[in-house]
Amino acid sequence: MDSYVDLDVVGVLENTDKSSAVRIGWDYLRHYERLFEAHRGQPVHVVEIGVFGGASLRMWKWFFPSARLTGIDIDPACQAHADDRVCIEIGSQDDTDLLDRVCGGDPPSIVIDDGSHTAQHRIATFQHVFPLMAPGGIYVIEDFAVHTASHAPADAASGVQEPPSGADYFVDIGRICFANGKVKTSRDIPAALTQLVDETVFFANAVALRKRDPRRDVERALATADSHFGKHRATAQGLENLAKYVVQHHGPLDRALALVQSAVDTHGASMSRSVMRAEIALASNDLEDVRQAVAHALDQRPGGLGIVLRLAKLQETLGDLDGAIRTVESAAAKSPQLGLLKRRLRELRTKARPTG
Ligand SMILES: C[S@@+](CC[C@H](N)C(=O)[O-])C[C@H]1O[C@@H](n2cnc3c(N)ncnc32)[C@H](O)[C@@H]1O
Repeated sequence: MDSYVDLDVVGVLENTDKSSAVRIGWDYLRHYERLFEAHRGQPVHVVEIGVFGGASLRMWKWFFPSARLTGIDIDPACQAHADDRVCIEIGSQDDTDLLDRVCGGDPPSIVIDDGSHTAQHRIATFQHVFPLMAPGGIYVIEDFAVHTASHAPADAASGVQEPPSGADYFVDIGRICFANGKVKTSRDIPAALTQLVDETVFFANAVALRKRDPRRDVERALATADSHFGKHRATAQGLENLAKYVVQHHGPLDRALALVQSAVDTHGASMSRSVMRAEIALASNDLEDVRQAVAHALDQRPGGLGIVLRLAKLQETLGDLDGAIRTVESAAAKSPQLGLLKRRLRELRTKARPTG
């Protein structure tokens, strides 16, 4: 694949107004080149809503040489742009059966909405398709300066009247994500949807939303750690953090255990190292090892608040609610004002109360 690409020039040659020099010249392609770079050589599914003369589909075919492409359009004449790598679906972008058919079996990594340009469709299509996308996928909505409906209907739940372009809806998603959900909006945007959004990028007349990808390349992380440890001293905290990272991201548990052991060998036993060992044993479903590691943790000098709460969680998992209560009580005795500990104690005591 070319080491240097200028997507804008290919857009100009193919005659799409996404480029900087065709008709209006929306000038999106500089942004797409950067945003889509990681997906470029991958065998991904790319969906574009709005085919028209097929200019952008031809450009995507060139930019994504290993991708499968689907174009959606209400105009049956667009079927002429189907070929060995391009599938054309005729129908409206608010047809959920059509969207399920296109995205259900082959989750797209890239979706570009260049269709009807109504607020209603922009929002409805995003709400339906974004959850169906592949992790790390990017959903773009174009041409906010253009809107073909006078007004979208008011939001049924909140009564908010969307302005004709629908831009404010996506600005609100950006605000919610930026403020970690702690922002007021009168729009009814489900938390289940905004929690999927990892990144919102606004540029002139368009927005790109990246879907969260919880996966990590643990092997690459461990190789990086090995090369780092080759030059830098491994601290106990660093080793424990890395063990937690490996467990959290479903990496090899024997490596996580070896990291904890290395922390114990070089820095001695501690409550946090035993808690970590118990969590690794739990991830391996070895309850006997969990019990042993928890007992060992209880023999150590108490760790910080986070460690104590993790220990209590392990005791709760083992069914030892009295033990979990004692663990949290001892931390609460030192920090009686902490609401977090009070809440946790209430929770555990309610669970421990005999029912009936
Ligand atoms: C701006 S053109 C697409 C241009 C094309 N993406 C390009 O860059 O070369 C918009 C297209 O959206 C289609 N369209 C309009 N309403 C639609 C709807 N409700 N669902 C799907 N496509 C729609 C139109 O038929 C038209 O072909």
